[in-house]
Amino acid sequence: MNATPFHDPGFITVQQHILKEQSRFPGASGEFSWLLSGITLAAKMIESQVRRAGLNDILGAHGEINVQGEVQQKLDVYANHVMSASLGVRDSVAVIASEENEHPTVLRNQSPNARYIVIFDPLDGSSNIDVNVSTGTTFSIIKRPNGVFCDNDILRPGYEQVAAGYVLYGSSTMLVYSAGNGVHGFTLDPAIGAFILSHENMKMPAQGSYYSVNEAHIDAMPACFQSYINRLRSGELGQKYVSRYIGSMVADFHRTLLKGGVFMYPPTKSHPAGKLRLMYEANPVAFLAEQAGGRATDGRERILNKMPENVHDRTSLVVGGTFEMTQFEKCRRTERTPAYDSPITNPI
Ligand code: AHG
Ligand code: MN
Ligand code: MN
Repeated sequence: MNATPFHDPGFITVQQHILKEQSRFPGASGEFSWLLSGITLAAKMIESQVRRAGLNDILGAHGEINVQGEVQQKLDVYANHVMSASLGVRDSVAVIASEENEHPTVLRNQSPNARYIVIFDPLDGSSNIDVNVSTGTTFSIIKRPNGVFCDNDILRPGYEQVAAGYVLYGSSTMLVYSAGNGVHGFTLDPAIGAFILSHENMKMPAQGSYYSVNEAHIDAMPACFQSYINRLRSGELGQKYVSRYIGSMVADFHRTLLKGGVFMYPPTKSHPAGKLRLMYEANPVAFLAEQAGGRATDGRERILNKMPENVHDRTSLVVGGTFEMTQFEKCRRTERTPAYDSPITNPI
């Protein structure tokens, strides 16, 4: 009998890719791909609700019950629920922590198979939902320490991430992740419900033409940030940069990853420590940026070196290509703001 001929389908799904990646983790034996499949499942559920966000309001208008008979939930609550539920049934997940929950949730304290902690922002840029603008989901995965977990065990620096990434609900839905071996992007094919490898081994251009920052806050930023923004605009750096700002970190970072340039959220008078969250916003994008050849700093030190004191710690963030980051360091060294400056030990 003739064997059935093998046909190369000509595409790679995210599951196939993760299976290949996890062969680099000794003893991982499928658990890591099962964990990440929890994120891709949640991503598809969140994206299906994001895509019908306007409709849900209409369909849920009578008594706030939607067509499935479920009580309408705000999308960030829904996203938190599906991320928690789909990761919660993965045996390899010991602890989850979310922007939406005050404390980490310990799922499996004793199990030796529960080797990972997943920290996430279920819906990033949620102020953009009502106006039909891109949003995202971010995630950061670290190994749990041996032994019984206590709350402070989660407070590890970003360089210990074993994998990180985001889902972008944009004009298409994309998953971008790194497990420490480059950055890979997958686009959801809605016809078949699968994420297909579309951007292999992504590299951030060494120099770009965009800067991305909420310039409304410029007067409230330390002098080095003001001076940097002015240099970007003025042409002093060899070209006049143009501005793009969406107000969803995932979308602003995704553009910076693809096109280069710099995205930043500096400290301001109202948010002296910065606005973005270190463990589930800045850490994942810093991990991806470095994997893609870029850099990320809070203005004083490399993001991935920062030791959190609380899972919801905030940080300032400057992330971009090597040229823009080098120029930022130059400004940082020359422009001093007494109230902000402290000795710069390791600016990047
Ligand atoms: P979230 O929706 O998870 O609270 O995050 C919003 C964040 C981030 O996505 C974005 O970069 C920033 O807030 C925008 O802040 P401004 O409106 O102050 O520019
Ligand atoms: Mn966010
Ligand atoms: Mn959020």
